[in-house]
Amino acid sequence: MRIVLIGASGTLGSAVRKELATQHEIITAGRKDADVQVDISSPESIRNMYQSIGQVDAVVSTAGRTFFGPLTELTPENNEITILNKLKGQINLVLLGIDYVQDKGSFTLTTGIIMDSPIIGGASSAIAGGAIRAFTQSAAIELPRGIRINNVSPNVLVESMEQYGPYFPGFEPVPASRAALAYRKSVEGAQTGQTYTVY
Ligand SMILES: NC(=O)c1ccc[n+]([C@@H]2O[C@H](COP(=O)([O-])OP(=O)(O)OC[C@H]3O[C@@H](n4cnc5c(N)ncnc54)[C@H](OP(=O)(O)O)[C@@H]3O)[C@@H](O)[C@H]2O)c1
Repeated sequence: MRIVLIGASGTLGSAVRKELATQHEIITAGRKDADVQVDISSPESIRNMYQSIGQVDAVVSTAGRTFFGPLTELTPENNEITILNKLKGQINLVLLGIDYVQDKGSFTLTTGIIMDSPIIGGASSAIAGGAIRAFTQSAAIELPRGIRINNVSPNVLVESMEQYGPYFPGFEPVPASRAALAYRKSVEGAQTGQTYTVY
């Protein structure tokens, strides 16, 4: 399959790329160090990305910046970082990408454990995760031409523990390579409207 992977250079994206590249052609996308440049916070940039790559069998997103911080420091302005990137950015990849996905192709988005198991500082990220899960379920029953959509909700990654560990006391981190399997399941399988939790 021909797959565009947005966020391919990231911690999670690198593992997903490694998992999928064994069997598929991967086009990497991101703001830098990628086959195609895209900033998912900009619909115009997403349109340009699709125009430059053309038809694909699958769109996989492991991109999505969020604001991390205590609720008392969550302002309308910094909440916008999450909404523009992880939430609207990923949803716009779907809305603007439908015409570029082949019949029976798929979209796979990224959520995260915070939407099910709250942590201090995670409210903004949880908003995005919950909304994307709801969007996944709704879009699945309306996408045309047999196109499927799922999202993957990983636990905190082993590879991210140095950075995020203190925010996740008592959580059992998962290797990014294990989370990556869920993306393969979404891309190569037949299910739609699913949230694959890797907890
Ligand atoms: N790490 C974890 O433990 C973990 C656990 C559960 C869920 N998640 C979720 O997984 C996603 C990825 O996390 P990560 O830790 O892998 O992040 P990361 O290492 O910071 O990687 C983010 C990736 O997305 C790209 N990116 C960032 N902003 C972008 C934008 N506006 N447009 C296009 N590409 C953009 C980055 O490349 P450029 O900078 O070149 O654009 C990079 O490739 C996030 O939504 C996160 O909430 C992560």
